[in-house]
Amino acid sequence: MKVCVVGTGYVGLTTGVSLAFLGHEVTCVDLDQEKVDMLRGGRCPIYEPGMEELLVEAAQNLTFTTSYAEGVPGADVVFVAVQTPSAPDGSPDLRYLRSAAESVAQSLDHEFTVVVNKSTVPIGSGNWVDAILRDSFATRADRPENCEFSVASNPEFLREGNAIHDTLFPDRIVIGSDNPRALEVLNQLYRPLINQTFTPPSFQPRPDDTTAVPLVSTDLASAELIKYAANAFLALKISYVNEIGQLAGKVGADITEVARGIGLDQRIGSRFLEPGVGWGGSCFGKDTKALIATASEYKYDMPIVQAARDVNQRQREIAVERLQSELRILKGRKIGLLGVAFKPNTDDLRDSPALDIASLLVARGARVKLHDPIAGDRFRREYPDMAPHLSDTLDGVFDDCDAIVLVTKWAQYLELDWGKFVGLMRTPIVLDGRNVLDQERMERLGYKYIAMAG
Ligand code: UGA
Repeated sequence: MKVCVVGTGYVGLTTGVSLAFLGHEVTCVDLDQEKVDMLRGGRCPIYEPGMEELLVEAAQNLTFTTSYAEGVPGADVVFVAVQTPSAPDGSPDLRYLRSAAESVAQSLDHEFTVVVNKSTVPIGSGNWVDAILRDSFATRADRPENCEFSVASNPEFLREGNAIHDTLFPDRIVIGSDNPRALEVLNQLYRPLINQTFTPPSFQPRPDDTTAVPLVSTDLASAELIKYAANAFLALKISYVNEIGQLAGKVGADITEVARGIGLDQRIGSRFLEPGVGWGGSCFGKDTKALIATASEYKYDMPIVQAARDVNQRQREIAVERLQSELRILKGRKIGLLGVAFKPNTDDLRDSPALDIASLLVARGARVKLHDPIAGDRFRREYPDMAPHLSDTLDGVFDDCDAIVLVTKWAQYLELDWGKFVGLMRTPIVLDGRNVLDQERMERLGYKYIAMAG
């Protein structure tokens, strides 16, 4: 099928490259010339394992352009995957979505095109985009006679750092539209994924248990709500384990054992029960906020979702409190943070716990040194004011340091030769912000180990 993808951020790029890999003819449109030039040269503007390899494998079906007129005409499906940043009141800022929809409508010419909202958009946005498309289409003097279009929602569930795996082998595909013809087109588009009939890329083998992928084909509003409800549930699962973790610390229980003990109940499930400094990233914070904002438009409170947010913020503060109660005085102390990215295998810094923890420490007069194996360059670009706090070497972090906080679960930190660095520190205190270090081993190496939870 002929596909156009508008926006080459995480979601758009992964969607475009994966669909091209599956054999569809894909044009990716992005107004950022620099990004388009990079992608044309086979380079990926974001750090995502496997993406550059997949770009090569899919190259023959893939075009990058800054022009809607090159991508939209003739397309069976147009995915709109532009950014929807949070406005100050928590509701998503839909300016980019509006302007993308207007531009798409100016180039539509096919007998039937499905315009898909792929960005995470508030419930009701499908109808809104439909109205924008129709208004913009009606302004065209050159509008073709035999040209129909319909809006659908197809939320994305990929995790950054696992984007290709999650796209090619998803737990489910959700499509929503009030037009059965649009659902049929999307059903066709995703056949290779649903039936898992494609040969996986060499670097990303098919998991043994993935034979077919369930399709949830529903109405627009339900598909839109599924996305928010899923992210909010995952966020609250993490906040829940963090809340129980704090109690575990007080009553002398071991949160790792508790999490395992509850997670083995298949109704609960063991994933997203890893305690620590809490969640970050571009999705959980924004989506929980947006869900609450939508509910408030209907004069409805969502105290459970709000509590998940509060607990998450509290975890970041608790990290600083733990250091304070150990060191007594934070002023003038050097604290090293391992990891700046919001999670491993990405250079994404959005709402990263490390940024908050670093700011809280600086506000209390501490000297902070940050390290990250991948996200350093992005950090320097996006946070120039904080750039002097970055160290390219681990020696620079550990040297004369009063306490180290493991913030991001990068493999490099888990496999670190911790014994090599202990002697560099002024006081060898380590706060395990991800609950992943072996306490006994760390103590044997000479560290004073502090857990985030019990
Ligand atoms: C999340 C969802 O997992 C995806 O399904 C969804 O598509 C995506 O948001 C989105 O809406 O675009 P992502 O933000 O990439 O994906 O990252 P996750 O792997 O979900 O991790 C989020 C945060 O939770 C990270 O900071 C991670 O360190 C933290 N986390 C995760 C925990 O603290 N504990 C856990 O047990 C799991």
